[in-house]
Amino acid sequence: MQSDEVREKFLKFFERKGHKIMPSSSLVPESDPSVLFTTAGMQQFKAYYMRPEDAPAKNVVSVQKCVRTSDIDEVGDDTHLTFFEMLGNFSFGGYGRREAITYAYEFITKELELDISYVTVYKGEGIVPRDAESYNIWKELGMQDIREDGKDVFWGPTGDSGPCGPTTEIYCKNANGQDVEIWNIVFNEYFCDGSREKLDKGEANLKKLDVLGIDTGMGLERLVTIVQKKKSFYETDLFDSIVVKIKELSTTQDSKAERIVAEHIRSAVFLITDGVVPGNEGRGYILRRVLRRAVRFSDNLGIPKNNLSKLAEVVVSQYKSNYDITNNLVMSEINKEEEKFKETLEKGMKEFKKGIDPFTLATTYGFPIELTEELAKEEGRMIDRGDYEEKMKEHQKLSQTASVGMFKGGLANHEPNTIKLHTAHHLLLAALQEKFGKQVKQRGSNINEERLRMDFVFDRKITDEEKKEIENRVNEWISAGLPVIRHEMPLEEAEKLGAEMEFGAKYPPIVSVYKIMHASGPVSIEFCGGPHVTNTNEIGHFKIQKEEASSQGIRRIKAVLG
Ligand code: ALA
Repeated sequence: MQSDEVREKFLKFFERKGHKIMPSSSLVPESDPSVLFTTAGMQQFKAYYMRPEDAPAKNVVSVQKCVRTSDIDEVGDDTHLTFFEMLGNFSFGGYGRREAITYAYEFITKELELDISYVTVYKGEGIVPRDAESYNIWKELGMQDIREDGKDVFWGPTGDSGPCGPTTEIYCKNANGQDVEIWNIVFNEYFCDGSREKLDKGEANLKKLDVLGIDTGMGLERLVTIVQKKKSFYETDLFDSIVVKIKELSTTQDSKAERIVAEHIRSAVFLITDGVVPGNEGRGYILRRVLRRAVRFSDNLGIPKNNLSKLAEVVVSQYKSNYDITNNLVMSEINKEEEKFKETLEKGMKEFKKGIDPFTLATTYGFPIELTEELAKEEGRMIDRGDYEEKMKEHQKLSQTASVGMFKGGLANHEPNTIKLHTAHHLLLAALQEKFGKQVKQRGSNINEERLRMDFVFDRKITDEEKKEIENRVNEWISAGLPVIRHEMPLEEAEKLGAEMEFGAKYPPIVSVYKIMHASGPVSIEFCGGPHVTNTNEIGHFKIQKEEASSQGIRRIKAVLG
């Protein structure tokens, strides 16, 4: 069974069980502002566990793009990936344990015809009782091996607060004869007012949620490895074409390097598509690290310069029927980063071999500290991380420009066109509200160098005539050369001003607000970390490219600048 069929089977199975199929959200979380990347399917639905009445449907199902980079050093083995797809079904008060467990059992044993080795259930700890109900349901289904466990089978929350709860996990045997966890079924029964780390230290509190929520996650790559009876991800059809291309371009053989290059290029393609560009901090830094590792290992394989984008092309053509991938941007960013780093890699390696000054390697040769650490480790040496951090702090103090107080998801990158589109995004929301009323609330946004995308609450199609009117209004404001002004103020004051807030976002006591001013009064006031252009006349011509339904009661506009 091919991976496409597994995805399809999953979605269709849950559609038959009364679930609405939802598209994957961006890897840059729109509704979980406290995390860097989307790491789980539930993130785009997080708010619905607290407010089920806002959900587009009681039961939904998705295949979600995810990135987790905490174990990036382990990539190349059989079990670690930075990018993966997560299959998940979710319910916000629609059903409970019995349905969730029975569906999972049916899907694994009947649809995929796999044997379950064993399952886990929560044994109870603190205020959270033993999950006897799940235990009994599994017993009724004839499960022989049910293992009771603690912390490992309590999931969440993501970010700095959110829904969480006990889980039951399903384990199956892989082709190496090992039992691997393939499906995590979470019963969101609690709201935690702090991070997971705080919860584990006893510094956060659990409060029972009004409604039991269901949140499940099953990694597609792992599942497909088992379905196809392979020993690792890299032998499945998900990696076939890229591994073949890598082998074709390589002059030496090194299967670990091949795996790392394949995995990292895949990750990079999806990150760039969602608006991340290589940079020196946050998301951009992680992408840079991923790409520079790909460059280094492609170098080990003897892959000549300017070939990483050829590998990316293979990934793009493989995934383009399942995801909206921005081809040109992906190619140009990968080429740019490869070029930048290839040039210095050789010199930097010489420097590294002479003796290790991680600070100079980072600032002069663009070696992320983690890369230097990895290289040192390969030679059985250690570097002085403390010394590096200190020098870096000093360096940053000197080179720091005005910092931007980001408090929500924020912009994926600070390229000039992204910033222009960001300001246009504020104007678009203002024009929509002017035309259709204040109840037109934003429900998500995503901006990259090429386009903006806004989801908003509205219950019907927007006619071509209305689209034109909205476009004209935005362009009028652009030509009027309106100043864009940033203010910092206490949260309450901003709320009194009626500043636009993003649904589900959590704001600090002092917030940053952007006003776009017209002689007759403000055109737009939004809670926003920026950055923005300083005057709307910098934006250029605004054009709506597409208007479509995003989900029930939510419309989506894509717009570009010309
Ligand atoms: N949210 C759960 C996970 O990511 C299902 O494992």
